[in-house]
Amino acid sequence: MKSIMTKSPYRNDFPILNQMVNNHPLAYLDNAASTQKPQSVIDCIYRYETTMHSNVHRGIHKLSHLASDAYEQVRSKVSLLINSQSVNEVIFTKGTTEAINLIASSLRPLIQKNNEIIITSMEHHANIVPWQILCQKTGAKLRVCPINDNGELDLNAFDDLLSSNTKLIAVTHISNVLGTINPIEEIIKKAKQVNAYTFIDAAQSVAHIPIDVQSLNCDFLAFSSHKLHGPTGTGVLYGKLDLLNELAPYQTGGDMIKTVSFTETTFNAPPYKFEAGTPNIQGVIGMGAAIDYLKVNSITDRYAYEHALTGYLMESVRSIPGVKVMGNPKEHSAIASFVVDGIHPHDLATILDEFGVAIRAGHHCAMPLMEILDVPATARASLSSYNDKADVDQLCNAIEQAKRIFA
Ligand code: ALA
Repeated sequence: MKSIMTKSPYRNDFPILNQMVNNHPLAYLDNAASTQKPQSVIDCIYRYETTMHSNVHRGIHKLSHLASDAYEQVRSKVSLLINSQSVNEVIFTKGTTEAINLIASSLRPLIQKNNEIIITSMEHHANIVPWQILCQKTGAKLRVCPINDNGELDLNAFDDLLSSNTKLIAVTHISNVLGTINPIEEIIKKAKQVNAYTFIDAAQSVAHIPIDVQSLNCDFLAFSSHKLHGPTGTGVLYGKLDLLNELAPYQTGGDMIKTVSFTETTFNAPPYKFEAGTPNIQGVIGMGAAIDYLKVNSITDRYAYEHALTGYLMESVRSIPGVKVMGNPKEHSAIASFVVDGIHPHDLATILDEFGVAIRAGHHCAMPLMEILDVPATARASLSSYNDKADVDQLCNAIEQAKRIFA
């Protein structure tokens, strides 16, 4: 295993980590659920609230100009982060879930009875239910690509599912349960051969893997700000501009219109066509600061550090007798889902919390995957670049303590 720095070079940027929980240093290992904010993001939100808060795109006064400029600058930052061709391809949403609901709703007029939508068995509920409902409303069929025993997509089965009826493929970049990094480049290429649209759920990948929507050639991609050190309640939907022009509006109201009379309404161009009402201005501006933060240090160094720490996590957890880690994918991100013999994951998480270790336990909003894994729930430790070896060691020691308590 590559040598890993004992202390994360990024840890001190995150004030929340510097605290004791239940008389132990906090080992925050629930990053797949939500990441913490660096001081620079907290400062940015404070600055926004104390110097420029007002509504965007509406006022003629100074504060509204400041807020509107700061808000729109974030569109450019996101566009640079994911390398979209145009800033107008960046739609601000409440998060990944709203982004998926937006596409599922706006695509509806383009979906016909004989169409099929392919998802995978490792999707979380937000990338299942909107498509299920779209299928129910249109008569289209939902197809599910299975996984193999390692927790990787079965690409032969995927090929068998793919046909001229496939209208859309919606797949997660990284599984929030198994940590599997899916071969999305290959999947998108296959989708293009049958002219299917592609949606990539990048919620778990955006803070861990560089994303280039032009080289991926995906049609849609979404992520949440709070999983890349920004505020909650904010996220992004990327869509190719020609498609966004074709899609029906999602929500209607202010900002998304060009003209309104009592007999007719004309719509604004994307992205505004999909941003009805006053947005989460503070959240978007905070997300911009989070993107800036990611770029302050070398992204390559950050990924290399995280990759080495992931290896340490997997090896350490796997070496504990009585612990079974779910899946063993070749391409793996910073997530370990596991079960411990004789201890329910909820009990385990409760005991770990007594030792200052924060993990998630449950079905991780992926009930169909739990059924496939044949477990009611798992415990899940997920890393960010501010974690270090001490966090992993604290986790493993706490698991040993839990085993002793349950013995
Ligand atoms: N999808 C998030 C998780 O996996 C909430 O925890």
